[in-house]
Amino acid sequence: MKFDAPAGTNPIDRLAVVGRPTERVDGVLKVCGLAPYAYERHDVVDDCCYGYIVGTSVARGRVAAIDVDHARAAAGVVAVITCQDTGTLPRGTFYASKLLADPDVQHYHQAVAVVVAESFEQARAAATQVHVEYEVVDGRYDLAAEVDRAVESKVAPPKRVGDFDTAYANAPVNLEAVYTTPDHAHVMMEPHATIARWNERGLSLWTSAQALSWSTRDLQAIFDLAPNEVHVSSPYIGGGFGGKATVLADAALAAVAARHTGRPVKITLQRALIFNNTTHRAATRQRIRIGASAEGEILAIGHEAWSGNLDGGPPELATLCTPLLYAGANRMTATYLAHLDLAEANAMRAPGETPGMMALEIAMDELAERLGMDPVALRIRNDTQVDPANPERRFSTRRFVDCFEQGATRFGWNARSPEPGTRRDGSWLIGLGTAAAIRAAPIGTSGARVRLTREKRVIVETDMTDIGTGSYTILAQTAAEMLGVPLADVEVRLGESSYPQAYGSVGQRGGNSSASGVYAACIKLRGAVLTALGITDADPAGPSTVFADGCVYHAEQTFDLAAAVAGGEQVGEDKLEYGDIADDFVHQSLGAHFVEVAVHAHTGEIRVRRMLAVCAAGRILNPMAARSQIIGGMTMGVGAALMEAQDVDTRYGFFVNHDMASYEVPVHADIPDQTVVFLDDVDETMSPMKAKGVGELGISGAPAAVANGIYNATGIRIRDYPITPDKLIDKLPRPEHEPTENIV
Ligand code: MOS
Repeated sequence: MKFDAPAGTNPIDRLAVVGRPTERVDGVLKVCGLAPYAYERHDVVDDCCYGYIVGTSVARGRVAAIDVDHARAAAGVVAVITCQDTGTLPRGTFYASKLLADPDVQHYHQAVAVVVAESFEQARAAATQVHVEYEVVDGRYDLAAEVDRAVESKVAPPKRVGDFDTAYANAPVNLEAVYTTPDHAHVMMEPHATIARWNERGLSLWTSAQALSWSTRDLQAIFDLAPNEVHVSSPYIGGGFGGKATVLADAALAAVAARHTGRPVKITLQRALIFNNTTHRAATRQRIRIGASAEGEILAIGHEAWSGNLDGGPPELATLCTPLLYAGANRMTATYLAHLDLAEANAMRAPGETPGMMALEIAMDELAERLGMDPVALRIRNDTQVDPANPERRFSTRRFVDCFEQGATRFGWNARSPEPGTRRDGSWLIGLGTAAAIRAAPIGTSGARVRLTREKRVIVETDMTDIGTGSYTILAQTAAEMLGVPLADVEVRLGESSYPQAYGSVGQRGGNSSASGVYAACIKLRGAVLTALGITDADPAGPSTVFADGCVYHAEQTFDLAAAVAGGEQVGEDKLEYGDIADDFVHQSLGAHFVEVAVHAHTGEIRVRRMLAVCAAGRILNPMAARSQIIGGMTMGVGAALMEAQDVDTRYGFFVNHDMASYEVPVHADIPDQTVVFLDDVDETMSPMKAKGVGELGISGAPAAVANGIYNATGIRIRDYPITPDKLIDKLPRPEHEPTENIV
């Protein structure tokens, strides 16, 4: 099925199931521990052994000698595998980093050996007996020191509209500031894990991967296999956030070890290896310049971003949203990439927008102050309904102003003092902050197969994944809506590469894309059902034939679905593909964040007290699941604002805090009540579901809203994330009287 014109009325519009707050259909399995994750697939192979990856202890250089004899002789050891056994492993197409040092070492904790033993403990013990000598080479580890050597990124060429330099120079009000964001880790709950097995069918992997078609593509490349020789299973995933986009060391080396030993091999990455072995969000330096009229009209906006990566790795696309977020006739963005010898930087939740908005949305707060203007009013003043670079291209929908107006009312924004540092609650300084949210809403070809059984049960199969987002639930809702059966009669099967291909859980496009794939398959199935019922004059996609209550209502007649499957089940399989309608519109999800922050006047302790996000993100397929996505993003935003940072040892080249004790993320006690409001925003131009993405919208802008709240509370502007008490303490107002008692 092709989508090349606005959707029009279709069966989803009944909204009998879609659009309703719906609990997770897999919720009971999850809370009872009955949803098996990759490492727990105890039923899939016999005679499994355990692999343990040894990471390099230097960042840059070469393996000069490697002594594996002691490890091979250790109790229970089946094999110790290094590049001497494998040669250089080919790479897939997504990641630039090699998955095994060959013997060149690209970054700290790159895999140098995998020890395979009868038990995990034996493999881990033997791994300590692998002795490696390195020839160490000087590397580059410090982004700040490499900025001058960075070059314009080829994947994100500069964009210019009008004459930025002249307009900026002549603008009545100017703002120029530099912001920095640190490296971030995904720290998903479930570590990367894989069971690999080879047999006459080829390679089978039970793993934790976000996009199965990317995994199979890359496994084919790494192991020189045909498409039908690779099988990947990933039905339950304990979080990914971009960190499990495709094949990493666990998957590749489990497959290497299984081939080498002739036995199934199971590998999980030990938590302390993940931070330097896998990927992360790159640190950035960003320069923003905005020129405005005295009335707050943006006349010129410039955003430059620097980040670093291994050769071949992508830049952090921190300027991604700047061409589209605000109006302005004169604009420039540029993205520069430096070489760094740290672990590979790659996608993490809202790649580009997250760090970009951390900078841009503080800059807007600073500009508002310089103009003596309310920050909400400044943003509303500069709304655009078209692509500023190409005014012919309209936003499909953009309720940006409504997000701010409704948010300001609901949040009680008028209680904000325009004078920073003037609101108090005892020893706490109170501030309100706001920021915009924007995130691209892409869509991609997705397919599914849907069966109606003789018992009138519906079975949905697609290789889409559920990374904790609710895919099982919204796909069940979609099929229930389309076929008119109760939600409980729908079974959704995901995460098998043998199922019809969906886009995968990436780029906040998975929900809308895969639901649209299920829609297409259901249209096919409706057609088959209508034929079986002898109805020849109905459009299976049209609104006049209603599937509901286990029946088909057509031309004032009622047919029981059972009659369509009396002779055997009916099957519909199709995929939804997209014409160039996506080029005709700007598709973005939008929102407005509001945050109340308290900063302790004497200690600098920062507490977030209230958060509100008002979102316009297309039709909301399941408000409960969508809210969870947004509050998850807001929570990660608080982490990015206040605590998350991978600290780089710039002498030896690694992330020092590489475990969950020292890489801090918010816990429940850090997060207050969060409110999420979704505005009605049905988007006919996106897909038959009329949805957009929500998975990455909630983090976009949230850190800056916290930062702006801290400024409003204290009058202290921090442009270097995370905002920790040590950056505030010597600038906080000194008490008139030195405290005579303990102050906390
Ligand atoms: Mo997302 S960073 O596209 O998994």
